[in-house]
Amino acid sequence: MEAAHLSADPAFAIAPVDRRLFGSFVEHMGRCVYTGIFEPGHPAADEDGLRSDVLALTRELGVSLVRYPGGNFVSGYRWEDGVGPAGERPRRLDLAWRTIETNAFGLNEFMRWAGRAQVESMMAVNLGTRGVIEAAELVEYCNLPGGTALADLRRKHGVAQPHDIRLWCLGNEMDGPWQTGNMTAYEYGRLAARAGHAMRKVDPTIELVACGSSNSGMPTFGSWEATVLEQAYDHVDYLSLHQYYDPEKVDPASFRASAVDLDEFIGSVIATADHVRAKLRRTKRIKLALDEWNVWYQSRFTEPEDRPIAEEPFRLIEDDYTVTDAMVVGNLLISMLRHADRLTVGCQAQLANIIAPIRTEPGGPAWRQTIFHPFALTAALARGTVLRTAVTGPMMSTGRFGAVPSVDSVAVHDPGRGELVLFVVNRGDHPVPLNLDLRAFGNPEVTEHLVLADADPQARNSVAEPERVVPRRAPQPVLDGGRTTVLLPPISWHALRCTVPAAS
Ligand code: AHR
Repeated sequence: MEAAHLSADPAFAIAPVDRRLFGSFVEHMGRCVYTGIFEPGHPAADEDGLRSDVLALTRELGVSLVRYPGGNFVSGYRWEDGVGPAGERPRRLDLAWRTIETNAFGLNEFMRWAGRAQVESMMAVNLGTRGVIEAAELVEYCNLPGGTALADLRRKHGVAQPHDIRLWCLGNEMDGPWQTGNMTAYEYGRLAARAGHAMRKVDPTIELVACGSSNSGMPTFGSWEATVLEQAYDHVDYLSLHQYYDPEKVDPASFRASAVDLDEFIGSVIATADHVRAKLRRTKRIKLALDEWNVWYQSRFTEPEDRPIAEEPFRLIEDDYTVTDAMVVGNLLISMLRHADRLTVGCQAQLANIIAPIRTEPGGPAWRQTIFHPFALTAALARGTVLRTAVTGPMMSTGRFGAVPSVDSVAVHDPGRGELVLFVVNRGDHPVPLNLDLRAFGNPEVTEHLVLADADPQARNSVAEPERVVPRRAPQPVLDGGRTTVLLPPISWHALRCTVPAAS
């Protein structure tokens, strides 16, 4: 067995962890909203129909921020349909997913849910089929205290205090041919600039996210980002990235090494944004928002046009996640942390039922999928400053990326609490002994070693067996003068918590 070697040093600092990296996404799609987070009449529903079991799991997941209401859904959405007396709201055909949208749940219900979930909201405006004035009016409805028609309308709807939403998405995936109202990069860049400008006339303090490419495989990837930023640079703070990894689209080793692709994608977007910065001679740096990411068995997806209009929310892309998928999710979070100096917003897509860490049954229980665990533990433990780790060791061969390291990792150091946490994956299918060298921290001690792995890498949780896969505590390795060895089973995710002398 070839060993890997990992050393960490407090001097290898990247950036502080931004809590917004641990965001999620709620879209009006399938059963994410209806029978996901909202189910009046469910035994666990509160007086507003919000499922308290899902709220509790959302808090346990450690979600910091939630993007709403889409997604592709937003490009056909009129936000006005979802406010005011519930009995007077229109039934509409949702153009994205071809489902009847009853509008029983809308903006104010979402904000109530977000308050109970203790998450920040990230609101998307429709730039597919609507434009500048509707976007500005939504900011007015949400963020102005009163004294204008739409702020007063919100008050009339029973919400006296402004929602004060900080972070706004200027549309969704506008480069995608599937997007209602999709457009060219130039058209979108101009529209994003004009909408952003108007929205900031209403509330100059909001932060704006322009749409990047729908994924790095889009034919216009790279040129889309450059053109959009050339038009909108002064009006936006973030550029979005979306990326999903399909276990059935590539060979198994390439799937397990998906974080190699995410590293490359993030690096390319940073380079493109900085190219435009140089070209425009600006000093501001654009930040990145990976506001849709996950594992998604996308090759199983049926296009909405290929099925009849759905009258009721139905089971759409309710992927069951394996231990391997959970390791990949943990590794994608490692990649995100590694780019914490530029990537400061992340939204795992989605929160409930739709490619989600939380699953529910209508009228029945809610449970944690395998991917819940690395997310929850990373969100809970990654506090402080991200540190680059130096790792050498065995390589694995992949069809897509050639030879890549089997072991990947990042560290997070909180000198105030005297804690260092190492997040490590073995993405290879052989065990790897890992030699740790933490001598730069003085005389640290490992306090806890959490592992997600299974003899069956295809093991999953289900309504019948919701705790089939859970993280377990491995025997605590003893550090001898800052050095020790731990064994990483094949396809495994790890969090190693260490106390380090406070002065480090
Ligand atoms: O998250 C599911 C869908 O994937 C979103 O609606 C869209 O933005 C993306 O293509």
